[in-house]
Amino acid sequence: MKYFILFGPPGAGKGTQATAMAENYNLKHISTGELLRNEIAEGTELGKKANDLITRGCFVPDEVVVGMIRSVFEKVKDVDGFLLDGFPRTVSQAETLDQMLAERQEAVTGIVSIMIPDEMIKARIRHRAEIEGRADDASEDTINNRISTYHEKTEPLIAFYEKQGKYHEIDGTGTIEEVKNNIHKLMETL
Ligand code: AP5
Ligand code: MG
Repeated sequence: MKYFILFGPPGAGKGTQATAMAENYNLKHISTGELLRNEIAEGTELGKKANDLITRGCFVPDEVVVGMIRSVFEKVKDVDGFLLDGFPRTVSQAETLDQMLAERQEAVTGIVSIMIPDEMIKARIRHRAEIEGRADDASEDTINNRISTYHEKTEPLIAFYEKQGKYHEIDGTGTIEEVKNNIHKLMETL
């Protein structure tokens, strides 16, 4: 099995690019954000607990997302690998993922990082707010909190995976098609 991590700040285009990647390389796309939004929409206990945190732009506890990832790994077998989107998001989540994969005699294959500057993050999220109506896209405070949380807690993962020689960065500022082509070129080498 291959284990790819689709990395990048909020609004970088992870969800946008994931569909084609999953299709082209027969990967199961797992977006922890999407799984959590489904739980909220279904009104589950987990969803109720996550709702307030997500709406404020805060992370949900590690054990919640780790549990969701573990259950997909256990259920889904008929693919060539997994495309993790929005996980791991902290060094502690990355360490847990490494352990979880080591138990299965597996390892992370590579990180595909879509990078855009903070000002572009805001423009893209504002644009998506008009189309999708996500609760965490609605307020400027929440967007700012997501951006600063990304810099503080998620950015250290770049060094974590650079040390493992697995970090690969793509310029995410071009058109959707340009970014897709850059990702395709990179994926052919991984
Ligand atoms: P999550 O859903 O993962 O949100 P995120 O990381 O903030 O990322 P986004 O989904 O906002 O951005 P994206 O990169 O997918 O961009 P998109 O393709 O939509 O997480 C939500 C919340 O859940 C978190 O804040 C947290 O509370 C919780 N959570 C999730 N995982 C967790 C974890 N592991 N631990 C703890 N908590 C967790 O694109 C954005 C917009 O730009 C779209 O409108 C799109 O059409 C447009 N666009 C995309 N590409 C381009 C382009 N090249 N040119 C122009 N426009 C473009
Ligand atoms: Mg997304």
